Amino acid sequence: MAESRHATASLMVAGNWKMNTTVDEGVALARAVCVAVAAKERVDVAILPPFTHLWAIRSVLEGTGVRLGAQDVYWKDSGAFTGEISPAMLAGWCDLTLVGHSERRHIFGERNHEVGKKFVASLAHGLQVILAVGETSDERDDGRTFDVVNRQLDAVFAELEIPPAMDAWVIAYEPVWAIGTGRTATPEQAQEVVAHIKQHVRARFLDGSPRVLYGGSVTAANAASLFGEADIDGALVGGVSLRAEEFGVIVAAAETAACARDLD
Ligand code: 13P
Repeated sequence: MAESRHATASLMVAGNWKMNTTVDEGVALARAVCVAVAAKERVDVAILPPFTHLWAIRSVLEGTGVRLGAQDVYWKDSGAFTGEISPAMLAGWCDLTLVGHSERRHIFGERNHEVGKKFVASLAHGLQVILAVGETSDERDDGRTFDVVNRQLDAVFAELEIPPAMDAWVIAYEPVWAIGTGRTATPEQAQEVVAHIKQHVRARFLDGSPRVLYGGSVTAANAASLFGEADIDGALVGGVSLRAEEFGVIVAAAETAACARDLD
């Protein structure tokens, strides 16, 4: 039995808007997303707009069940860190943070242990955290996928003083070669690494593993087959999360998959 199957299964679909939309466009998109994902009770839906939009979008989401996340965070509470945003600033009104996204790692040079500090700081402020991991195309070709994700995970675990509650964090497996390229991992490729991640986490935290999402060119057309894999607990969606209706189709596919898992 897949670990993701709880008594009542549910999946998560999060939309990472990246550096897109003005504030006005973002507010309108958030409204459209709420309409497109309404009445999906088995899916934990979240959107991650740019920092500048978060406060305005918070009130759009009120009462809708759609949760609000930040795309990154710094690990200190306050101080001389020009341009950074701390988890203390988000705590109490924002629901989650994303750390370790491949664009942060590869464009901005973030290192594994820095991702770990962001992870720990988010948890310390009561924010749920999505930890993104994944290999480059060269690393996959060299057969190093498992080693790379193990290293990314272990560096984060090394920063932890106490094991976090399993529902306080989510892992997103995002192969770098699949992000924004239209080259989605096959469901089998994604399932293989997601299952490995769960095994690796279980070896470290004996009481189970958090949800593990897949991210990388997820679309309305391929979401259902990805969610058909036993261990894939949802998706972290980039480009398509900017199109409310298509994002809604992905959420609907997650709802259908959650219901199907109950029947297994
Ligand atoms: P795309 O869905 O655009 O490939 O982006 C995936 C991603 O990076 C989500 O965090």
